[in-house]
Amino acid sequence: MKPINLIILSVFITINSISAAPATTIIFTTNGRSRYAFDVFSLPLDTTGHELQLTDGTSVNFNGHFVSSVNPNKNINTVTDPDPSSVKLIYVTERNGTSAIYLDEVSVSVSYPGLDRTRKRSVIETESTRSQHRLVGGNGRVSMKDRPSLVGDLLIYVSTHEDTGVARTSWAAVYSTQLSSGLTRRLTTEKVADFSPAVSPSGLWTAVASSGEKGWGGEVEELDTDIYVFLTQNGLDRVKVVEHGGWPSWVDDSTFYFHRRGEDGWWSVYVAILPQDMPFSVDSVVTRRVTPPGLHSFTPAASLTKKNIIAVATRRPNSDYRHIELYDVISGKFKDLTRLVAPKANHYNPFISPDSSRVGYHKCRGAGSNGKMIKNDLFLESIRIEVPDISLFRIDGSFPSFSPDGSRIAYVGLPGLYVINSDGSGNRVIDPDVSAFPTVWDPKRKGVIYTSLGPTFASEDTSVDIYSVEVDLDEPRFTKLTIDGLNNAFPAVSPDGKWLAFRSGRTGHKNLYIMDAVEGEKGGLTQLTNGPWSDTMSNWSPDGDWIVFASDRHNPGSGSFGLYIIHPNGTGLRHLIHSGSAGRTNHPWFSPDGKRIVFTSDYAAVSAEPISNPHHYQPYGEIFTMKLDGSELTRLTHNSFEDGTPSWGPKFMKPENVEWSIDEEKCSFEDSEWLAISNRVDIDEAKIQCGG
Ligand SMILES: *[C@@H]1O[C@H](CO)[C@@H](O)[C@H](O)[C@H]1NC(C)=O
Ligand SMILES: *[C@@H]1O[C@H](CO)[C@@H](O)[C@H](O)[C@H]1NC(C)=O
Repeated sequence: MKPINLIILSVFITINSISAAPATTIIFTTNGRSRYAFDVFSLPLDTTGHELQLTDGTSVNFNGHFVSSVNPNKNINTVTDPDPSSVKLIYVTERNGTSAIYLDEVSVSVSYPGLDRTRKRSVIETESTRSQHRLVGGNGRVSMKDRPSLVGDLLIYVSTHEDTGVARTSWAAVYSTQLSSGLTRRLTTEKVADFSPAVSPSGLWTAVASSGEKGWGGEVEELDTDIYVFLTQNGLDRVKVVEHGGWPSWVDDSTFYFHRRGEDGWWSVYVAILPQDMPFSVDSVVTRRVTPPGLHSFTPAASLTKKNIIAVATRRPNSDYRHIELYDVISGKFKDLTRLVAPKANHYNPFISPDSSRVGYHKCRGAGSNGKMIKNDLFLESIRIEVPDISLFRIDGSFPSFSPDGSRIAYVGLPGLYVINSDGSGNRVIDPDVSAFPTVWDPKRKGVIYTSLGPTFASEDTSVDIYSVEVDLDEPRFTKLTIDGLNNAFPAVSPDGKWLAFRSGRTGHKNLYIMDAVEGEKGGLTQLTNGPWSDTMSNWSPDGDWIVFASDRHNPGSGSFGLYIIHPNGTGLRHLIHSGSAGRTNHPWFSPDGKRIVFTSDYAAVSAEPISNPHHYQPYGEIFTMKLDGSELTRLTHNSFEDGTPSWGPKFMKPENVEWSIDEEKCSFEDSEWLAISNRVDIDEAKIQCGG
């Protein structure tokens, strides 16, 4: 098949023209995100000591960095003499529904309860005072903020607030903000994405992982990045110094560690030594592998005073968990840190204090991590956006949809099918075990939802059927509407409640069909689309005139999906949006006024090195809206997680979090599945199959 010419949308975000629509609500899912409850913790580097929680147990706090001293300015109370019992930490937080970088100063009291010199001394460290300052983000433009460093008065960090204007290009770029004046400067070259910035000890250089001119090729494990350095002051003298690598961490102004997945499949830490004099180049930089094969070692953190020691995250063959360990680059010995404290928890992205007394990292603060059992969670997390009259919520469930009056939400639990009031009360288990996806409410018949039961992402001949479910009966009733079981899924109901559009694999390809919503297939069936490709995930416009759907018809079987609309009578087929030439745009849903659609897309690529996060199948998923003519593409979410399955509800819900209690351990989420050591064999085999 010859790919059709693709539309690269030019983006004009004009807030005013959006605001005429009635106030409404969008809900979406983030894979695993509700259970993260990250806080930043630390452990002493030398002695076996007490783990100290450095952040305040509110929201999700991660990617910390210790600060040695802070220059005086009017926003921040300065501690002039470095106080050993005081920790100064900058970190990313997602409190108040948006990403911000905070500085906390925590003074720590140390006591020795029941000190008994014949036994091992126990040291209890507790937080005595905390002062907290928002440095950037949290107000103004909504964007992701990440991996901060503070050099004197200059905060260096990643932000995603500028659209590159090019589909499938990450918006992640490095900025500096002078804290005293608020002056912010972009350090990354235009149209280029930079990740994981690290500032050299003198502040002169910043090193980044960057895709450079290559852009993003769809990678979801290791990004195809090289390491560049540039002047921290102004981003100039930018030069590539290492081919293939990420997550730099400086030891001194001419040496940094970084990670890469080596030819043998193992993630390992490497060192790069820059020449004494500029200009630097890939050829003048010496690189060497530091950590051995046989385990994955990544996200290195250098120590400024103990130059032979680095902190790394590891995945070992005998462990399902990511732990922080020290590695002595001279003796070649690892030393466990977090495994001794919380063996069954994942620990992320280490950093070492300037005096090398402490190693910081983040992990979930719940029971599995030696924390308290966390029994409540956000059922709906209010996400701040800049679009007036729309509230946006992340739901703790998948495939959510609002009832016609907006008072209830149906969602699936993978497995399980549920209905709940929009205020988080009255959660009803319709069936705890079914593998259901997605959910959609009948607009006329009260308490009727449609779903499909069977495996997701399955081949055309997999048994999946569409059901209507009467959820308000004492015994919810499931009525099977399709007959042949050949992957009939993603029902979309017409606004008069008479018809269901759905996709079926019955011809050997996934195409769209329309059947009677009450009688099902036997009450009438027409084929809407027909071709050797996949049409799927449809949604019916509120005026009944259009069906929007996702399709790979421009390049069948490629995995690339774009959005199309068609009239229910089969005329008027039109291509709406595509993300670059190979992108993925999925799960469209009409706004209640029918003028816009919400969907998930990789238009903004990935926003952080995926290995710095827990597992996400599709770390590029972000939520966007646009008008039906393809204009006003608007990015709603800014994070490095997998956001998907949005739907648009008829009522405006106040942008406030809705809590609920959960049965499951709050910290249950998976570390990157592709780090599992059994995968290493697959890598080797894949390499052999690809001829090296
Ligand atoms: C931000 O969130 C915190 C707790 O998460 C809350 O106490 C505070 O009132 C919120 N601030 C705003 C401006 O919403
Ligand atoms: C098909 O449906 C659309 C709107 O739903 C209508 O405008 C158009 O006239 C119809 N075309 C035919 C051939 O029936």
